[in-house]
Amino acid sequence: MSHIPTLYTPRLVLRPFTLADGTRVQELAGDKRIAAASSHIPHPYQNGDAELWTNLHQISAEAGLGFDFAVTLAGTRTPGRELDPTETGHLIGAISLYKHPQPALDQACIGFWIGVHYWNKGFATEAGCCILEFAFRRLKLDRVISGHSANNPASGRVLQKLGLIPQPDTHADEKSGRRIENIEYALARDAWSRKSIIHRWKTALLAPLVSH
Ligand SMILES: CC(C)(COP(=O)(O)OP(=O)(O)OC[C@H]1O[C@@H](n2cnc3c(N)ncnc32)[C@H](O)[C@@H]1OP(=O)(O)O)[C@@H](O)C(=O)NCCC(=O)NCCS
Repeated sequence: MSHIPTLYTPRLVLRPFTLADGTRVQELAGDKRIAAASSHIPHPYQNGDAELWTNLHQISAEAGLGFDFAVTLAGTRTPGRELDPTETGHLIGAISLYKHPQPALDQACIGFWIGVHYWNKGFATEAGCCILEFAFRRLKLDRVISGHSANNPASGRVLQKLGLIPQPDTHADEKSGRRIENIEYALARDAWSRKSIIHRWKTALLAPLVSH
């Protein structure tokens, strides 16, 4: 039985990875632009790497430490027409939440990548909102953290849109012999609750104005 739930957003379904996703993961994560942004993604992405990674998800989920979700398209619904079957269920990326191994530190780190073809359509932000909801509402975590390298402003923009706040501490990682500065972000549950209450309140107030 999977310990990773399936979550829904207006345009996406976030579900556990399966071994059948291997070829698609290799195709998407095998792009140099994805590997360049992460110290964990190998390049070139070899046959079997995706399956190895997928098997690790189950181990982390069983330990209650890690939640890796396949980001898939819920399908495009045009009014009066069926869902587009060529898009429905299509895997476009990954998003994860990894808890700090020290139980006293009730925090987790969020990570994500989206296939290059799907960039700048708001998918990472939409999946990220859903994961924050999962982290704070279901897992009752106190804090979510993340970070990105200084040469990856798109990731920083996503974290800011999610409401994460840049932290004063930075550290450097080494990739292919180059030192790259990392910018750290954090969001506390209280701050998230306040923001999501204001957001729902604004949405409820504006909805009648927008629909007429
Ligand atoms: C970072 C990443 C996940 C973003 O995915 P996405 O689905 O395109 O994200 P969104 O569409 O929700 O938001 C992207 C935002 O970045 C902005 N952006 C894109 N390129 C940018 C750049 N070079 N500089 C500044 N902002 C940029 C977009 O304009 C958009 O902001 P906006 O909505 O205010 O216009 C995707 O680029 C990716 O997978 N990159 C490689 C892996 C990675 O970086 N993972 C994160 C590691 S920490």
